[in-house]
Amino acid sequence: MDNRNMGYRARILVSEVAAEPAVAWFLNELAARRRSAFVQEMNTAYLAAQLLEVYDYDGDVKGLLRGMLLHDVGELMTPNDILGKPGRLSPEERIAVQRHVSDGAELLTRKGITGDALTVVLQHHERSDGTGYPAGVESPEIARCAKIAMVCDVYEALTTDRPQRKAFNMYEAVSMMTGMPLSHGILQSIKRCDDT
Ligand SMILES: [Fe+2]
Repeated sequence: MDNRNMGYRARILVSEVAAEPAVAWFLNELAARRRSAFVQEMNTAYLAAQLLEVYDYDGDVKGLLRGMLLHDVGELMTPNDILGKPGRLSPEERIAVQRHVSDGAELLTRKGITGDALTVVLQHHERSDGTGYPAGVESPEIARCAKIAMVCDVYEALTTDRPQRKAFNMYEAVSMMTGMPLSHGILQSIKRCDDT
C-alpha cells in the first residue's frame, strides 16, 4: 500500500468527521481553551484513521473517529491548575482529572452524540486487565472501538514531547506498550502505520 495515499485518505476521513457541526463545536472550544488537548484529539483521530487502513475493522468507522476527536473533551471541565500542574498529583487531584471521562460523556450526550463515539469517551482509559478507569472492567467488557482508542491514545502520548520528557520514537513506544494491558493485535497494526 502506498503510504502517501494511506495518509491522504486518513486525513480526508478525519476532516469529514471533524466538520460535523456538533464535533466542530467541541473542537472549536478545545482549540480556544485547551490547545494541547485539541492537538492531541486531532493526532489520535488521524492515527486511528491510519490504523484502520491496515487493521480489519467492521465497526462504525465514523463513530470511532468521532470518539477519537472528542475522547478528552471532558477536560473542558477540569480545573486549569490541576491540568497544568507539573509533577505528581494528589489522590484528590487524580480523581478530578479522571472525571474528564464522565464529564466528556455528559457533554456528548447533551449534544446528541451517542453510539461508538460515546463508548470511546467512556472506555478509553480502561485496561485489558481491569486496572483502568472509570469502571475497571476487563477485556471482554471493553468495546473494540475503545480498545483501538486506548492504543492510539497511549501511542500518541508516548511519541509526543511532554514537559518532563522528550518524545519516544515509534520503536521505543511500541516496545514499552508491549508490556501494557492493551490489545496486542491492535498494537501490531500500529507498527504497520509507517507514516505516523
Ligand atoms: Fe483521556
